[in-house]
Amino acid sequence: MKVPAVKGTRDFYPPLMARRNYLVDGWKAAANRNGFEEYDGPILEYLKMYQIKSGDEIVDQLFSLQDRGGRDLAIRPEITPTLARMVNQQINALPRPIKWFSVPRLCRAERPQKGRLREFFQWNIDVIGAEDLLADAEVICCALDYLQSTGLTADDVVVRISSRRMLAEMLKAIGVAEDQLESLYPLLDKKGRMAPDAFEAALGDLVPAADPMNKILDLMKAERLEQVSEGVTMTGPAQASVEELSSLFDLLDRMGVADFCRFDISIVRGLAYYTGVVFEIYDRDCELRALGGGGRYDNLLKQFGGPQVTATGLGMGDCVLAILLEEKGLLAGRVPTRSLDYYVACVDKRYFPQAVEIVARLRRAGRRANLSYRQTGLGKQLKQASEQNATEVVIVGAEIESQRVAVKALASGEQRVVAVDQFFAGLQA
Ligand code: HAM
Repeated sequence: MKVPAVKGTRDFYPPLMARRNYLVDGWKAAANRNGFEEYDGPILEYLKMYQIKSGDEIVDQLFSLQDRGGRDLAIRPEITPTLARMVNQQINALPRPIKWFSVPRLCRAERPQKGRLREFFQWNIDVIGAEDLLADAEVICCALDYLQSTGLTADDVVVRISSRRMLAEMLKAIGVAEDQLESLYPLLDKKGRMAPDAFEAALGDLVPAADPMNKILDLMKAERLEQVSEGVTMTGPAQASVEELSSLFDLLDRMGVADFCRFDISIVRGLAYYTGVVFEIYDRDCELRALGGGGRYDNLLKQFGGPQVTATGLGMGDCVLAILLEEKGLLAGRVPTRSLDYYVACVDKRYFPQAVEIVARLRRAGRRANLSYRQTGLGKQLKQASEQNATEVVIVGAEIESQRVAVKALASGEQRVVAVDQFFAGLQA
C-alpha cells in the first residue's frame, strides 16, 4: 500500500533541504548581526493558548488533538504565544530588552495554495520590554537586512506599515465605539482581498449609521499619512498616534531603509493581539501573498498572566520567500550543494583497505571526504567525485605499495604523486 505525503506538507529531499538550510542560515545570520539570541519552544501547546488572543482565523486553522489524559492540545500555528509564555515564566531573571529569534516549524490547517502550506518554517524576531519605537524600527530593519542579503532590493520588496493604535484612535474620532473596534479589525484586514461592494455591505452590517460608515470608507482610502486626518475632528490621542507613526518613518529613514517602506492604512493584521505599529512585507508586483508580517503587541504577556510588558516582532515564512527568490533568479548558484575537500578513489580492490584508512584519516583531520563503497572503474569514480563537488581526488593505486598516492585537482586536472605522510603533513599546514 502506497501512502502519500499529507496534503500541504513537503518532503525535503536533499536539494529542497539545501534550499531550506540556505534560507534558515540567512535568517539566523541576520538575527545574529542585529543582536538577537536564539530560543525555541515545544511543538505542542495547550489548545487554550491560541484561544486566548490569537484571533478566530488562527483558531479555525488549528491542528488540535487530545492526549490520553483527555487534555486538549494543538500543534503550534505560530510561536508568539509560546514566546509570551516563556518570557513570563522568567520575566524577573531576564535582562531587558529581550531580543530573541527563532525558526519554528509551524502547522496551520489552511487550504494549500501558492505560498501557503499546512506545514512551514517561520523566522521570528521579537523585542520584549522596549516601549521605544526604535524596537519596531529595528525589527523592520533586521527583516530588511536579511532580504537585502539575499540580493533583493527596494525594487523587489516593500514593507507596508500602519498602526493599530492610530486606526483605533481614528475610528474613535470618527464615532466608532471602543467596544466595536475588535470586531472591525478582521473586516478591515480583509478589505484588500474583498470586492468593494462586499466590503461595503459587510461594513454596513457592523456600522449601520451612514456618517461613521462613510468616514471609515474615506479613511481607508488615505494614501499618505497626512491624509488620514482629513475631514476628521482630531482628538489629542488621535493626533499623537499619527505623530508616532510619522516618527517611525523618520527612524526608518535614518536607518537607511526608507526606500523599502511606505504607509498603508489597509495593513491591519489578522491576529488579534496587535496594539500599535503593524506591517506586512510584500513583493513590489503584489503578485504573491505576504512574505512576512508583524507589529507591536503590548498586552499579550499580561493576557497570558504576566506583568504588563511591551513587545514587538515579526514572522517571515519560507514559502513565499522561496517563490520570490526563485522568480528573481536569486537562488541559482547561491544555495550550497554537497561539496567535498577530497574524494578517495581506489583503482584496485587490493588497495581498498588503504583507501579506507586514508578517508578515515582525512576525516579525523577535519576534511570533508568520501569514497565509493563499491570497486568501480577510475573513470566512474572521477565522475562521482565531480558530482559530489570534490576539490581533489586522492587516487590509491599501485604507488601505495611504496606509500605514495596520486592527488588530482579536479578544476585544473593537474596531478601529482606524493608520499602519504607528506600529503598528511601538508594538510596540517
Ligand atoms: P502571520 O502573519 O500569521 O504572523 O505569519 C507571518 C508570516 O508567516 C506570513 O506572512 C507568511 O510568510 C508565513 N505564513 C503564515 N501562514 C503560512 C502558511 N500557512 N504557509 C506558509 N507560510 C505561512 C504571525 O505568525 C505572527 N506570530 C508573527 C509575529 C511575531 N508577530 C509578532 N511577532
